Amino acid sequence: MTGDMQAFFEVHRGLLREGPGLPEDVHWALAQIKPPARVLDAACGPGADTATLAEALPQARIEAVEMVPHFVTEARERTAGFGDRIMVLEADMLSMSGPYDLIWCAGAVYFAGIARALGAWRKALSPGGYVAFSEPVLEPGASKAARRFWDGEGQVSSEAQVLSQVQAAGYRVLETRRIVGAAWEAYYTPMQAHIDALRAANLADAVAQACDQAEAEMSNWRAARDEVAYLLILARCE
Ligand SMILES: C[S@@+](CC[C@H](N)C(=O)[O-])C[C@H]1O[C@@H](n2cnc3c(N)ncnc32)[C@H](O)[C@@H]1O
Repeated sequence: MTGDMQAFFEVHRGLLREGPGLPEDVHWALAQIKPPARVLDAACGPGADTATLAEALPQARIEAVEMVPHFVTEARERTAGFGDRIMVLEADMLSMSGPYDLIWCAGAVYFAGIARALGAWRKALSPGGYVAFSEPVLEPGASKAARRFWDGEGQVSSEAQVLSQVQAAGYRVLETRRIVGAAWEAYYTPMQAHIDALRAANLADAVAQACDQAEAEMSNWRAARDEVAYLLILARCE
């Protein structure tokens, strides 16, 4: 791992979650489908949503996968109280075979792209199984501040483009929900507290730079907080 990556992970350690989201988002998806018996939390990060899924689905068997080892450890610690119906694996979310009745994926489909991720999950879903995933969105008429937030993140699609990619992958979109405001607070507030603690200690230069970058991101988010959004999509394989 490069020094920059190590510094990045110093900032991204011990957080509640690694992207925007709230338990209500998980509950919103579950409220619309038959209770799933087998669930995958794909790219679970430190396991906040895995724990919410486990609480909401006391009968379900849940697998959570993540490729960063220390997130795997954190997710295992967070979900240890649920016993052996929860399994957290260090694995590639695209190589899981299931079958799953629901694949939940908060803020990670964009690593692979919608076509590739939904294509890989087609064979991992049980007949009639669901996916629920959140994806960054940016509308063509977005403010300069909102565009600045996503600068450097590659191409961010509009809501209409995201939905057409889901349909092109052979899925029917059932419902959508915009993730703005409080869900981002849930990500950034613990991160700011962690940065404050790191700064109070004697920081290596690389870690100080990673803190600066994270704080610049938060400041850009504050400047457009009602506009910066993920779209949560509930879809079914056709
Ligand atoms: C933005 S974070 C979101 C984590 C978590 N879902 C959450 O909301 O806290 C994205 C995560 O996806 C993981 N990831 C990306 N590609 C992956 C893959 N192919 N398999 C497993 N994990 C992956 C990253 O390691 C990272 O932890």
